[in-house]
Amino acid sequence: MAHIAHDPDARPDMRTTHDLRVVLPRTAEVRGDRLFIGGVDVVELAQTRGTALYVMDEAHIRGQLRSLISALRSRYERSEVAYAGKAFTSKAMVALVGEEGGCLDVSSGGELAIARAAGFSMKRVVVHGNNKTLLELVEAIDAGVGRIVVDCFEELERISALATERASTQAILLRIAPGIVADTHEYLQTGGEDSKFGFGIASGAALDAIRRALDAPGVVLKGLHCHIGSQIFALDSFAKAIEVMADLIASVRTETGFITEDLDLGGGLGIAYQAADKPSDVEQFAEVITSAVKREFGARDLPLPLVTVEPGRSIVANAGVTLYTVGAVKEIPGIRTYIAVDGGMTDNIRTALYDARYESILANKADQPRSTLVTIAGKHCESGDVILIDTPLQPAEPGDTLCVFTTGAYNQSMASNYNRQVRPGVVFVKDGIVREVLRRETYDDLMRCEV
Ligand SMILES: Cc1ncc(COP(=O)(O)O)c(C=O)c1O
Repeated sequence: MAHIAHDPDARPDMRTTHDLRVVLPRTAEVRGDRLFIGGVDVVELAQTRGTALYVMDEAHIRGQLRSLISALRSRYERSEVAYAGKAFTSKAMVALVGEEGGCLDVSSGGELAIARAAGFSMKRVVVHGNNKTLLELVEAIDAGVGRIVVDCFEELERISALATERASTQAILLRIAPGIVADTHEYLQTGGEDSKFGFGIASGAALDAIRRALDAPGVVLKGLHCHIGSQIFALDSFAKAIEVMADLIASVRTETGFITEDLDLGGGLGIAYQAADKPSDVEQFAEVITSAVKREFGARDLPLPLVTVEPGRSIVANAGVTLYTVGAVKEIPGIRTYIAVDGGMTDNIRTALYDARYESILANKADQPRSTLVTIAGKHCESGDVILIDTPLQPAEPGDTLCVFTTGAYNQSMASNYNRQVRPGVVFVKDGIVREVLRRETYDDLMRCEV
């Protein structure tokens, strides 16, 4: 049975919702004792739509996309933002990315299918995956995607054969493992060979892959890709990765004459999950990326490439919250108080998966201080099914609406049907209007695959 460790530093923090500004969706505000997002009373939303429910602040998502695109373009004209659909995908989300002028990073046939159904421009799609199936490659090539990021030699051969059969040409990038491991606060330079993703530099695989890609029929090598990690606070890690990539690109030019037109730097910009977190903003991120590209390419006399970044979390995480209804309060004297809610690891696996931390409030007591210390437990048959451990909260009673912040990324997209739980719906809220973008599953959905 999983043991849930105590956080020895945890205590009630007496904060009210206002004090949590850094994790709140942009339009969050407290009116009376209640939390509103996008002009919508979330307590009423929970009562009328049912819980668990994901709520996303549309203005926040659009604002993040818009400000990142303009922060990059104002410094470096030839830049693109490819939203990483793995963070959260639905047709409405994909359509919004298109409206804001973004490209789209998909990492499976399913994400590509949703992009197609949303009418997203296939030319603006970047396809990822370390072991794309043959069917996924066929679908991507036949759909006319802009770029496929090739992860291994076998895939290069498969794409080349498929494109040749079709008498077409597929634009590709090669995924490079640059040997940088970004920690939240610093980077580590490693041998970089121990990754399931991409071609290592030190082993010579990267240069070999570039040579083979240049010779392969049916493909046109546009450039290189790297992704150094996720939830990165130390922007220096991105600058270091750009330096390593520029070194590789310069030596490739010497060895093969190949000039890299496209440089895709992956995602990874960190965001605030807790009130004390101090992430960088998109302006600082754009400044570091663009100045490093100009500096490192300039120093090697390389032509400036088209620069793409692939943010997921930093676009949607803080936009989203999850609403639950408190069902039970279990006080174990001298040990802890569990607050049990009507969801859990099926809608938010991040705590069980990697000890993620969040902030939460009771949305119907949003003006009150968080004067108790509790553990929020889910309803599933696992002791490790917890969402927040030793967290400050307003005094809870059954029927209260719990709001967990920063759940817009890697929550719905990682949701499961464990315990045959139906997955929650997603609503976008904006200017007082609620737009359902994914409906809550029903038992009929659970039966759909039964034969
Ligand atoms: C290739 C690639 N691009 C982009 C992302 C998005 O990263 P993030 O959500 O941290 O911005 C990931 C995340 O794993 C990734 O693997």
